[in-house]
Amino acid sequence: MTHKDAILNAAGTNTRLAHLGNDPASYHGFVNPPIARGSTVLFPDARTLVAEDQAYTYGTHGTPTTDALCDMVNSLEGSAGTILLPSGLAAVTVPFLAYLSAGDHALIVDSVYFPTRRFCNTMLKRLGVEVEYYDPAIGADIETLIRPNTRLIHLEAPGSNTFEMQDVSLMTSIAHAHDCVVTMDNTWATPLYFKPLDHGVDVSIHAATKYPAGHSDVLMGFVSSNEKHWQKLHDANRDLGLCVTSDDAYQVLRGMRTMGVRLEHHRKSALDIAQWLEGRDDVAQVLHPALESFASHDLWKRDFKGSSGVFSFVLKAPEGRFREKSYAFLDALSIFGLGFSWGGYESLAVPVSLRDRTVAKGPTDGPLIRLQIGLEDVADIKRDLEAGFAAAALA
Ligand SMILES: Cc1ncc(COP(=O)(O)O)c(C=O)c1O
Repeated sequence: MTHKDAILNAAGTNTRLAHLGNDPASYHGFVNPPIARGSTVLFPDARTLVAEDQAYTYGTHGTPTTDALCDMVNSLEGSAGTILLPSGLAAVTVPFLAYLSAGDHALIVDSVYFPTRRFCNTMLKRLGVEVEYYDPAIGADIETLIRPNTRLIHLEAPGSNTFEMQDVSLMTSIAHAHDCVVTMDNTWATPLYFKPLDHGVDVSIHAATKYPAGHSDVLMGFVSSNEKHWQKLHDANRDLGLCVTSDDAYQVLRGMRTMGVRLEHHRKSALDIAQWLEGRDDVAQVLHPALESFASHDLWKRDFKGSSGVFSFVLKAPEGRFREKSYAFLDALSIFGLGFSWGGYESLAVPVSLRDRTVAKGPTDGPLIRLQIGLEDVADIKRDLEAGFAAAALA
């Protein structure tokens, strides 16, 4: 370990984000790594080629740019290795393919990101894997669902759209007693607010499209694993032939330099707006893990260092008028864009459907709307939401 590495290991988050993955001395002093585009890598002689005895061998196996990003992610996650994938969804499906085989049983949290569920219900089932969904509040009772052939337990905390927290350490200790690999989609918190591997998770998953990229212009996924599960993940990724371009890796590395300051801004604004919504007569409920009123707030408080910018609320609406009221609210917004994803600099809103849920049904007392609070000024965001409430009142 170099002197600088030792200093960075003990440094604060923003210092680490500013310096991790950088090695200017290797690039003639330039602060950032080069964008190394390439498929073919040349070898100096036949022996070296046959033995593949050099740092870089072929474009799909990594470049100096993708390595710079992986180094940073490994340092933040405390992981033995990280693979980069072309989307956050691929960052969930590739580890499932790596660790599951025909005849296995997998336990997936019911508040999971919907496309993860679609992959489980289609491709995993076709490949002979049995999938069962569990309540995010299950806690120790997860043990009752574990069968002799259960090989993988997937966590997502907070859950998509309804934000239920999970007792991660409890779940991982039970899973490991039955020799199951534990994967966790940690996109909401990023390793800045929660480090899954420190809580016993084996494989930490991120849609880097969100906060790491941060500008709604790049799609990417990270999968970071502990030592025990690294080789299988690495080999599955190699066998599938998946990789990202150096151009995209560069953009995500660039985004991560400011991820700490961006997240802090998202955190503050989102919490301010969530509290403001909670006090309104036209809001039935706010689903944000950092609010004391939230059912699993204690787990968030125990384990997480912060909260990010995405949460949901239930708009008050009479039975039978949910759709009209929520569409009127959404259509009156100007600063909020109506669109999928989150983690970028701009505010977004989407109507949420929980029709896919089998156990964790979520609130049913009104239409659910998910907000991603961007980096705009809070007063402007509130004014925009007020226009939405005014339109919903008239609908
Ligand atoms: C929790 C979660 N995981 C994974 C993804 C997938 O990321 P991507 O859009 O990069 O495929 C998303 C996207 O919204 C998400 O919300």
